[in-house]
Amino acid sequence: MRIMTILRAALAAAVLAGWGAFSPPAPAAEPTPKSAQQPAAQEDDEWQGLPEGPGREEVFYVCQACHSLAIVKQQGLDRASWDEVLKWMVAEQEMEPLEAEPRKLVLDYLTKHYGRE
Ligand code: HEC
Repeated sequence: MRIMTILRAALAAAVLAGWGAFSPPAPAAEPTPKSAQQPAAQEDDEWQGLPEGPGREEVFYVCQACHSLAIVKQQGLDRASWDEVLKWMVAEQEMEPLEAEPRKLVLDYLTKHYGRE
């Protein structure tokens, strides 16, 4: 029985090793939709993929207190809608209201990086 196991293992290894040679070439790069990109692969990993810029710290620390930044990043909202989201977070989700200055930073940041034309 043992010899069969070894043979099977060898066969599996051969199949695995040979796989690359038989698989078709990678398809030409198609544009990846933003939502499909892996945040983990991005250089700003320590910020969970938030791009550099004024307001990043505020967004990172404030919004992440309650939920993943993924649900922030997947949105594409105009400024008025981001404003509504912030109001909604405060009114319904128990977010601490932001002072005028950080609130503007957050709003600027979200509109710039996760905005919609
Ligand atoms: C005190 C907790 C809290 C904080 C702080 C907070 N959120 Fe939320 N947020 C929630 C909860 C809870 C939900 C889920 C609400 C639901 O779906 O009913 C949510 C949902 C959302 C959604 C909706 C996601 C969807 O699927 O539509 C967005 C967008 C969002 N938050 C953005 C933000 C942003 C931007 C910040 C930072 C400025 C923030 N949140 C900070 C609690 C919070």
